[in-house]
Order: sequence, then C-alpha cells, then structure tokens
Amino acid sequence: MSLSREQAKEKIIVALDVPTRERALALAEKLYDNVGAFKIGMQLYNAEGPGIVRDIEKLGGQVFIDLKLHDIPNTVAEAARVLTGLQAFIMTLHAAGGKKMLAAAAQAVAESVPENGRKPLVVAVTVLTSLSQQEFTEEIGIDRPIAEQVVSWAKLAKAAGLDGVVASPQEIALIRQACGQDFKIITPGIRPIWAAANDQSRIMTPRQAVEAGADYLVIGRPITAQPDPAEAAQRIVAEIMEAAV
Ligand code: C5P
Repeated sequence: MSLSREQAKEKIIVALDVPTRERALALAEKLYDNVGAFKIGMQLYNAEGPGIVRDIEKLGGQVFIDLKLHDIPNTVAEAARVLTGLQAFIMTLHAAGGKKMLAAAAQAVAESVPENGRKPLVVAVTVLTSLSQQEFTEEIGIDRPIAEQVVSWAKLAKAAGLDGVVASPQEIALIRQACGQDFKIITPGIRPIWAAANDQSRIMTPRQAVEAGADYLVIGRPITAQPDPAEAAQRIVAEIMEAAV
C-alpha cells in the first residue's frame, strides 16, 4: 500500500529553528500548505513567547512545541496545562523525569483540553542522540547499551499514559516492537538523498524512515535552507508517497 498526498504531507513536521517571529512566519507562510506541522523549539519559544504559537496557528499550521520539560511532577504538569491551552499539536518532556512526572503531565493535559479543543500528543524524549555510549556510561552513569535504555524509557512513557516518543531513525523498529502500532514515533535525522547531511550523522531518507515505521518526520534544513522551501517540501511529500507501508 502507498500513502496519499494528504497522508504523506501530514507526516512532515518542519523545524522552525530560527531566532525571530519574522523569519518563522515567513517560512510558515511559504510552507503551511505543503507540510503537516511546525516545530517550535526552545530558541524561538524563549525569544518570542507563546504568541508565536498562536501566530502560526492563525495561519492554519499545527504546532509541535518542543520544550523538553524536565522538573518535579507538579511543575511539569502545570507547564503541560499551559501548552494544552495553547492547543499544541505535540509537546515533549524527558523520560528521565520518571513515571510520576510523565503520568502527572499526561493527566494534566487530559484534564485541561479546552471545550471543542483537541488533546495534544504528549511524547517523551529518551536518550539524546548527541550522547555517545561512552558519555552515557561515564558521565551520565548508566552502564547499559543506549538502545536498551531507549526501549526501556519508551515502555515507561507508554505505561505512564504518554502518546509516543521522539527517537532516532535507527531506534524505530525496536520501539515499534516493544510499544505496539498505536504508539507514536517521531523522528529527526531525516535527509533526502539530494540534501546535505549537515551535522546529522545517523540519517535516513524520508522514505526509509516511513518504511521503518515513523509516524512523523522532523525535518529542518533540507526544507528551510533550500532556495525554494515549498518546492523542497513537495519533493519530500512525493518521496514519502512512494514508501511501501
Ligand atoms: O535541520 P535538521 O533537519 O537537522 O533539524 C532537525 C531538528 O530536529 C532540529 O530542530 C533538532 O534540534 C531536532 N533534533 C535532532 N535530533 C534529535 C532530536 C531533535 O536533530 N535527536
């Protein structure tokens, strides 16, 4: 089976890794018709505040607010309520905060969905892909293969009532096997063959990632750094439509 244009488009989340509202909106205006959602990370959110989320939503875009919350359960739950009020499409927190923190956030989100609003997907970040095995063992102090820890945190997130995880393309199969078909897997590290790898090393093409079982692909520079971002997004949609799923 292959995906329709609409299904392929819905899988693309563009990372708006820019410092200002003007640059973010200029990109969003060019792209909202060709992608499923926009990711606002800590740079843009901290520079512009929640207004930038509303501005993108006004354009018709869905927003993945990627703040990677990690604090005591009550603090994270209250922050999750705020993001639910903003009608985020997806929000993130660190699995390392533990089951109580994850469950408190999931519950706060479920309780605070506005009338006629939607429930954001609450997803956990597991082991940061920037960490090497050596750093993970010697500096963080967890003497276990990273892949094992990723799967164990994905299971914890699922048990706490979360909707999914952010994971590198290489981890998709293991997580899918451990957490089932309905658990959302969002993956960065995506590079079409025609794009530069930049600083990403463990990469997959959009088609490979979808075939491996990713629900959503976070894509930044292969779209945002192109002379014609809308055309780049359309090429990626076409590539995803060819995936055998
Ligand atoms: O430009 P590029 O496609 O590399 O952007 C990928 C986005 O995904 C960035 O916002 C980056 O912070 C994020 N990300 C990542 N790798 C992770 C987690 C998040 O590249 N493991």
